Amino acid sequence: MDFAPSEFKPEQIEEAGRLFHKKCDFMLGVAKLEQLPDADLPEVAFSGRSNVGKSSIINALFYQKKLAKTSNTPGRTQQLNYFKLDDRLYLVDLPGYGFAKAPESMVKNWQRLIMAYLQGRVNLKRVFLLIDSRHGIKKVDSDIMEMLDKAAVTYQIVLTKIDKISEKELDSVLKKTADDVKKHAAAYPKILATSSEKNLGLEDLRAEINSLVF
Ligand code: GTP
Ligand code: MG
Repeated sequence: MDFAPSEFKPEQIEEAGRLFHKKCDFMLGVAKLEQLPDADLPEVAFSGRSNVGKSSIINALFYQKKLAKTSNTPGRTQQLNYFKLDDRLYLVDLPGYGFAKAPESMVKNWQRLIMAYLQGRVNLKRVFLLIDSRHGIKKVDSDIMEMLDKAAVTYQIVLTKIDKISEKELDSVLKKTADDVKKHAAAYPKILATSSEKNLGLEDLRAEINSLVF
Protein backbone atom coordinates (compact mmCIF):
# COMPACT_ATOMS: atom_id res chain seq x y z
CA MET A 1 0.00 0.00 0.00
CA ASP A 2 1.50 3.31 -1.02
CA PHE A 3 -0.64 6.09 0.38
CA ALA A 4 1.39 9.09 1.51
CA PRO A 5 5.00 9.92 0.73
CA SER A 6 7.12 10.23 3.86
CA GLU A 7 8.15 13.77 4.72
CA PHE A 8 11.24 12.45 6.45
CA LYS A 9 14.62 12.14 4.81
CA PRO A 10 16.10 8.63 4.50
CA GLU A 11 18.76 9.50 7.11
CA GLN A 12 16.07 10.57 9.58
CA ILE A 13 14.23 7.28 9.05
CA GLU A 14 17.49 5.42 9.62
CA GLU A 15 18.35 7.33 12.77
CA ALA A 16 14.87 6.64 14.15
CA GLY A 17 15.23 2.96 13.29
CA ARG A 18 18.44 2.86 15.32
CA LEU A 19 16.74 4.46 18.31
CA PHE A 20 14.10 1.74 18.39
CA HIS A 21 16.76 -0.96 18.36
CA LYS A 22 18.17 0.45 21.62
CA LYS A 23 17.39 -1.00 25.01
CA CYS A 24 13.83 -0.43 26.13
CA ASP A 25 12.44 -1.75 29.39
CA PHE A 26 9.16 -1.77 31.16
CA MET A 27 9.64 0.61 34.06
CA LEU A 28 6.46 0.73 36.08
CA GLY A 29 2.69 0.68 36.01
CA VAL A 30 1.06 3.80 37.40
CA ALA A 31 -2.34 3.43 39.04
CA LYS A 32 -2.29 6.75 40.90
CA LEU A 33 -0.93 10.18 39.94
CA GLU A 34 1.42 10.14 42.95
CA GLN A 35 3.24 7.17 41.39
CA LEU A 36 4.26 9.04 38.22
CA PRO A 37 8.03 8.99 37.70
CA ASP A 38 9.97 12.26 37.80
CA ALA A 39 9.42 14.30 34.66
CA ASP A 40 13.15 14.13 33.91
CA LEU A 41 12.96 12.89 30.30
CA PRO A 42 10.77 13.76 27.32
CA GLU A 43 7.69 11.62 27.14
CA VAL A 44 5.17 10.47 24.53
CA ALA A 45 1.88 8.74 25.27
CA PHE A 46 -0.37 6.43 23.27
CA SER A 47 -4.04 7.10 23.82
CA GLY A 48 -7.26 5.96 22.18
CA ARG A 49 -10.33 3.83 22.60
CA SER A 50 -10.08 0.36 24.06
CA ASN A 51 -8.89 -2.22 21.57
CA VAL A 52 -7.70 0.37 19.02
CA GLY A 53 -4.20 -1.14 19.07
CA LYS A 54 -2.14 0.98 21.49
CA SER A 55 -0.19 -1.87 23.06
CA SER A 56 0.26 -3.54 19.66
CA ILE A 57 1.76 -0.45 18.08
CA ILE A 58 4.28 -0.08 20.92
CA ASN A 59 5.38 -3.67 20.34
CA ALA A 60 5.55 -3.15 16.57
CA LEU A 61 7.66 0.01 16.99
CA PHE A 62 10.20 -2.17 18.79
CA TYR A 63 10.33 -4.68 15.97
CA GLN A 64 7.92 -7.09 17.65
CA LYS A 65 9.68 -7.43 21.00
CA LYS A 66 6.81 -8.19 23.34
CA LEU A 67 7.02 -5.21 25.62
CA ALA A 68 3.36 -4.33 26.08
CA LYS A 69 0.56 -6.78 26.78
CA THR A 70 -2.03 -6.94 24.01
CA SER A 71 -5.38 -8.63 24.05
CA ASN A 72 -8.60 -9.36 22.24
CA THR A 73 -10.42 -8.28 25.36
CA PRO A 74 -10.93 -4.52 25.46
CA GLY A 75 -9.66 -2.97 28.68
CA ARG A 76 -6.55 -5.12 28.93
CA THR A 77 -4.28 -2.21 29.84
CA GLN A 78 -5.43 -0.92 33.20
CA GLN A 79 -2.58 1.30 34.30
CA LEU A 80 -0.32 3.88 32.72
CA ASN A 81 2.48 1.56 31.65
CA TYR A 82 5.86 3.27 31.46
CA PHE A 83 8.65 2.14 29.16
CA LYS A 84 12.08 3.77 29.21
CA LEU A 85 13.94 3.87 25.92
CA ASP A 86 17.73 4.21 25.95
CA ASP A 87 17.59 6.47 29.04
CA ARG A 88 16.33 9.16 26.67
CA LEU A 89 12.58 8.87 26.43
CA TYR A 90 9.53 7.59 28.25
CA LEU A 91 6.80 5.91 26.24
CA VAL A 92 3.48 5.52 28.00
CA ASP A 93 0.85 2.92 27.11
CA LEU A 94 -2.43 4.30 28.41
CA PRO A 95 -5.57 2.39 29.35
CA GLY A 96 -8.19 2.75 26.64
CA TYR A 97 -11.26 4.93 27.03
CA GLY A 98 -14.81 4.25 25.94
CA PHE A 99 -14.84 0.78 27.41
CA ALA A 100 -18.16 -0.02 29.02
CA LYS A 101 -17.73 -3.57 30.29
CA ALA A 102 -15.56 -2.91 33.35
CA PRO A 103 -17.26 -1.91 36.60
CA GLU A 104 -18.34 1.71 36.40
CA SER A 105 -16.31 2.83 39.42
CA MET A 106 -13.18 1.36 37.85
CA VAL A 107 -13.82 3.09 34.51
CA LYS A 108 -14.35 6.40 36.31
CA ASN A 109 -11.08 5.99 38.16
CA TRP A 110 -9.13 5.32 34.96
CA GLN A 111 -10.77 8.19 33.13
CA ARG A 112 -9.94 10.57 35.96
CA LEU A 113 -6.36 9.34 36.05
CA ILE A 114 -5.91 9.59 32.27
CA MET A 115 -7.42 13.07 32.11
CA ALA A 116 -5.34 14.36 35.01
CA TYR A 117 -2.23 12.83 33.45
CA LEU A 118 -2.87 14.26 29.98
CA GLN A 119 -3.64 17.73 31.30
CA GLY A 120 -0.84 18.00 33.82
CA ARG A 121 2.24 16.17 32.63
CA VAL A 122 4.88 18.83 31.93
CA ASN A 123 7.33 16.67 29.96
CA LEU A 124 4.64 15.22 27.68
CA LYS A 125 5.89 16.16 24.21
CA ARG A 126 3.12 14.63 22.15
CA VAL A 127 0.13 12.37 22.51
CA PHE A 128 -0.41 9.87 19.73
CA LEU A 129 -4.16 9.55 19.52
CA LEU A 130 -4.96 6.23 17.90
CA ILE A 131 -8.09 5.91 15.79
CA ASP A 132 -9.33 2.67 14.25
CA SER A 133 -9.24 3.30 10.49
CA ARG A 134 -12.45 1.28 10.07
CA HIS A 135 -14.39 3.60 12.35
CA GLY A 136 -12.78 7.04 12.10
CA ILE A 137 -13.11 9.69 14.82
CA LYS A 138 -16.03 9.01 17.19
CA LYS A 139 -17.67 11.24 19.79
CA VAL A 140 -15.46 9.90 22.62
CA ASP A 141 -12.39 10.72 20.53
CA SER A 142 -13.63 14.24 19.76
CA ASP A 143 -14.20 14.79 23.48
CA ILE A 144 -10.59 13.86 24.21
CA MET A 145 -9.41 16.07 21.33
CA GLU A 146 -11.31 19.03 22.74
CA MET A 147 -9.86 18.43 26.17
CA LEU A 148 -6.33 18.28 24.70
CA ASP A 149 -7.00 21.49 22.72
CA LYS A 150 -7.99 23.23 25.95
CA ALA A 151 -4.96 21.89 27.81
CA ALA A 152 -2.72 22.87 24.84
CA VAL A 153 -1.22 19.38 24.62
CA THR A 154 -0.05 18.58 21.08
CA TYR A 155 -1.50 15.38 19.69
CA GLN A 156 -1.17 13.53 16.44
CA ILE A 157 -3.77 11.22 14.95
CA VAL A 158 -2.56 7.72 14.12
CA LEU A 159 -4.96 5.58 12.12
CA THR A 160 -4.59 1.91 13.07
CA LYS A 161 -5.37 -1.47 11.50
CA ILE A 162 -5.24 -0.20 7.92
CA ASP A 163 -4.66 -3.81 6.82
CA LYS A 164 -8.38 -4.26 7.45
CA ILE A 165 -9.56 -1.69 4.89
CA SER A 166 -9.19 -1.08 1.16
CA GLU A 167 -7.07 1.68 -0.34
CA LYS A 168 -10.23 3.52 -1.30
CA GLU A 169 -11.57 3.35 2.24
CA LEU A 170 -8.22 4.54 3.56
CA ASP A 171 -8.28 7.47 1.20
CA SER A 172 -11.72 8.45 2.37
CA VAL A 173 -10.97 8.11 6.11
CA LEU A 174 -7.73 10.11 5.65
CA LYS A 175 -9.63 12.95 3.96
CA LYS A 176 -12.35 13.00 6.57
CA THR A 177 -9.87 12.89 9.43
CA ALA A 178 -7.77 15.67 7.87
CA ASP A 179 -10.87 17.89 7.67
CA ASP A 180 -11.65 17.18 11.29
CA VAL A 181 -8.10 17.82 12.46
CA LYS A 182 -8.19 21.31 10.92
CA LYS A 183 -10.85 22.28 13.45
CA HIS A 184 -8.64 21.41 16.41
CA ALA A 185 -6.08 23.87 17.68
CA ALA A 186 -3.66 21.39 19.26
CA ALA A 187 -3.87 18.68 16.60
CA TYR A 188 -0.75 18.09 14.55
CA PRO A 189 -1.77 18.39 10.88
CA LYS A 190 0.00 15.28 9.62
CA ILE A 191 -1.99 12.07 10.05
CA LEU A 192 -0.22 8.73 10.17
CA ALA A 193 -1.77 5.58 8.70
CA THR A 194 -0.47 2.37 10.27
CA SER A 195 -0.81 -1.35 10.64
CA SER A 196 1.05 -3.04 13.47
CA GLU A 197 0.17 -6.37 11.97
CA LYS A 198 1.56 -5.62 8.51
CA ASN A 199 4.26 -3.15 9.60
CA LEU A 200 2.86 -0.21 7.68
CA GLY A 201 3.49 3.43 8.51
CA LEU A 202 5.75 2.60 11.44
CA GLU A 203 8.91 4.16 10.04
CA ASP A 204 7.25 7.56 9.99
CA LEU A 205 5.91 7.07 13.50
CA ARG A 206 9.40 6.18 14.71
CA ALA A 207 10.76 9.28 12.96
CA GLU A 208 8.09 11.49 14.58
CA ILE A 209 9.05 10.13 18.00
CA ASN A 210 12.78 10.43 17.28
CA SER A 211 12.29 14.08 16.40
CA LEU A 212 11.06 14.70 19.95
CA VAL A 213 14.13 13.25 21.67
CA PHE A 214 16.96 15.63 22.56
P1 GTP B 1 -6.67 -1.74 25.56
O1 GTP B 1 -5.39 -1.97 26.32
O2 GTP B 1 -7.74 -2.68 25.94
O3 GTP B 1 -7.13 -0.33 25.60
O4 GTP B 1 -6.41 -2.11 24.00
P2 GTP B 1 -5.22 -1.64 23.04
O5 GTP B 1 -5.58 -0.35 22.40
O6 GTP B 1 -3.90 -1.70 23.74
O7 GTP B 1 -5.29 -2.76 21.89
P3 GTP B 1 -4.31 -4.01 21.65
O8 GTP B 1 -3.00 -3.53 21.18
O9 GTP B 1 -4.35 -4.90 22.84
O10 GTP B 1 -5.03 -4.69 20.38
C1 GTP B 1 -6.38 -5.07 20.40
C2 GTP B 1 -6.64 -6.10 19.31
O11 GTP B 1 -6.45 -5.53 18.02
C3 GTP B 1 -5.72 -7.31 19.39
O12 GTP B 1 -6.47 -8.46 19.09
C4 GTP B 1 -4.68 -7.03 18.31
O13 GTP B 1 -4.13 -8.21 17.76
C5 GTP B 1 -5.53 -6.31 17.25
N1 GTP B 1 -4.69 -5.41 16.43
C6 GTP B 1 -3.85 -4.44 16.87
N2 GTP B 1 -3.24 -3.83 15.85
C7 GTP B 1 -3.68 -4.40 14.72
C8 GTP B 1 -3.41 -4.20 13.31
O14 GTP B 1 -2.61 -3.36 12.88
N3 GTP B 1 -4.09 -4.98 12.45
C9 GTP B 1 -4.99 -5.92 12.85
N4 GTP B 1 -5.61 -6.62 11.91
N5 GTP B 1 -5.25 -6.16 14.14
C10 GTP B 1 -4.61 -5.41 15.08
MG1 MG C 1 -3.47 -1.97 25.72
